[in-house]
Amino acid sequence: MNPTNSMDPATAARLREILAGRGLTTLPAPPSEPSADPDEPGHPEYHRRRRAETALARWEKITPRRYRTAEATDPAVIAWADAVIADPSGTRSLLLTGGTGTGKTHQAYGALRRIAAAGPERYTAVSVNAADMYGELRAAGGADDTEKRLRQLSTAPLLHIDDLGAAKGSAWVEEVTYRIVNTRYNDLLPTLITTNFADPEALGERLASRLSEMCRVVVFGGSDRRRPR
Ligand SMILES: Nc1ncnc2c1ncn2[C@@H]1O[C@H](COP(=O)(O)OP(=O)(O)O)[C@@H](O)[C@H]1O
Ligand SMILES: [Mg+2]
Repeated sequence: MNPTNSMDPATAARLREILAGRGLTTLPAPPSEPSADPDEPGHPEYHRRRRAETALARWEKITPRRYRTAEATDPAVIAWADAVIADPSGTRSLLLTGGTGTGKTHQAYGALRRIAAAGPERYTAVSVNAADMYGELRAAGGADDTEKRLRQLSTAPLLHIDDLGAAKGSAWVEEVTYRIVNTRYNDLLPTLITTNFADPEALGERLASRLSEMCRVVVFGGSDRRRPR
């Protein structure tokens, strides 16, 4: 009799591992037929749904309450999110520009949600507001802390920087942003940026040049959704 037949598969697998670890002949693995039912473990769809649940819980954590119902509806934003789902490292970054209140941040969180809902193997999106990001980097305990945070932002598998340029001006701001954006560009990591500037040149020449090279730019028109017409 094969004692593993009456056990649940996880216990049986663990038992085989323990036996193998002690140099004992392992019992043959039971045939693992993929389940035909998407509601059952063993079916790829079952596992994709579990991953999506975990990813969406993370999305909710990084998303401000105002944007928790956000869905990507802009065709270019939907296309970008779907490209990231299909091939994160083969997808250019995305720059959403346009006036205040035209829905850029809404679309950005909508895109992050869409990527989570696809149930990626790993969902480690990081979302920062640019002004908060500079504040945090300035307030860091020392050069080491600043570098550590810079590294986190530069290496996050998916990074969203909201309202870039709201704190424009200093050479330090441009340098910090350039370093993050450039590292991500070199390492083929997708970045999603929103900015009020219709013309990225306003963000500084070096940064604008890098952004225009690495990003698909989508211009948002229309009136300010926050002000009643
Ligand atoms: N497609 C949409 N459906 C519903 N509300 C939206 C939509 N797009 C934007 N909003 C709302 O309009 C306001 C402005 O949008 P927001 O994305 O913050 O603009 P921006 O980032 O361009 O300044 C927010 O309150 C947002 O929740
Ligand atoms: Mg915004």
